[in-house]
Amino acid sequence: MDHFLYKNGTLMAEDVLLSEIAAAVGTPFYVYSAATLTRHYKLFTEALAPLPHQVCFAIKSLSNVAVLKLLGDLGAGMDVVSVGEYLRAKAAGVPGDRIVFSGVGKKADEMRIALQGGIRQFNVESEPELAVLSGVATSLGLIAPITIRVNPDVDAKTHEKIATGKKENKFGIPISRAPEVYALAARLPGLKVVGIDVHIGSQLTELAPFEEAYAKVAALTQTLRAAGHQIDRLDLGGGLGIPYTRSNEAPPLPMDYGAMIKRVLGHLDCEIEIEPGRLISGNSGVLVSSVIYNKAGEDRDFLIVDAAMNDLVRPSMYGAHHDIVPVTEPATGGATQAYDVVGPVCETGDTFAKGRALAKVGPGDLIAFRSAGAYGAVMASEYNTRPLVPEVLVKGDQFAVIRARPTYDEILKRDSIPEWL
Ligand code: LLP
Repeated sequence: MDHFLYKNGTLMAEDVLLSEIAAAVGTPFYVYSAATLTRHYKLFTEALAPLPHQVCFAIKSLSNVAVLKLLGDLGAGMDVVSVGEYLRAKAAGVPGDRIVFSGVGKKADEMRIALQGGIRQFNVESEPELAVLSGVATSLGLIAPITIRVNPDVDAKTHEKIATGKKENKFGIPISRAPEVYALAARLPGLKVVGIDVHIGSQLTELAPFEEAYAKVAALTQTLRAAGHQIDRLDLGGGLGIPYTRSNEAPPLPMDYGAMIKRVLGHLDCEIEIEPGRLISGNSGVLVSSVIYNKAGEDRDFLIVDAAMNDLVRPSMYGAHHDIVPVTEPATGGATQAYDVVGPVCETGDTFAKGRALAKVGPGDLIAFRSAGAYGAVMASEYNTRPLVPEVLVKGDQFAVIRARPTYDEILKRDSIPEWL
């Protein structure tokens, strides 16, 4: 359930007309619903209670500071994968002891900033990274709390570009080698082992792969404890999938996921951390666009809209499906037409949908791409010198621009022509 519903024949974000935002901001734009973000975050905290837990929102899915403040104020921690994301979390007022730092390629400078600013833990992904972190921490006279991310060699049964838990993926250390890597971590100065980390992929639509991975983590917890390591915290990653089509998808709910976690890991007396991104942010946002032209092709009708692959790259990058709906509610049983929905970018890959049945729309009509809150704005670029798409947050009947569309002046000013040219 989300808060983008038709009321009186027009699509709303909570109590705000999308057409009103479009008039104020221009299209295309992203709009997020505070109520949906809040609801989705709470589903996870409720699902994990009464286990001690911390939900760390995966900032990479939606990193606007206003959104982070909203979630942070509810008690959310943050999962960051770069110092840029770390600084976003801090700018949103999230305390360092609620921020976990993930990622395979953390640099010494990034570690330094996070250690000085305060960090809940680093999720370390390799032996070389352990050595660098140990060096950085000792040079600062600080102790870095760590988990080690293990790669359980489990098939997440998701798109190959977002599966991370197979042995051929770059992530984590092979779980079979965990005892020796933990032994190394215990020997290195400046590090304090606090737990284990695992993340097997994104947009998982079944619980079985999670369960397989978590069962391996449960066994590893016992092994590592027997070897004298203090394992108090299990970071189980993110990855729970969302329905991208309204009609025929029913991925497991956070409640089912939480029940499975309790069953598989509840006896270990560990604090549970999870790093969901998409389930919190995905259906909390839509991308609103205007139709520019209807264009008759030889064998198809193109709907040329003012959003493009640079604003929402998922369809062209992963072949992902996003429901597309007109902002003016179509009459039930009204005529539809099959469109290839495309943007203005000069690539055939700039196609959102092929042969998609939509109510008839024409120039100036508004449409919305659903489920675009996660991995939408954050993956946008200025390809074709299209200004970065703005973001709007709605709460009840209020809305505010939380990232403005840059002007062409601002865009052009970022380039400079060398004197010698
Ligand atoms: N934790 C780690 C270590 C991750 O790498 C990710 C996502 C998450 C948590 C959050 O996963 P989520 O709950 O959002 O599934 N751009 C792709 C998705 C990339 C996911 C990368 N890692 C897409 O648009 O589908």
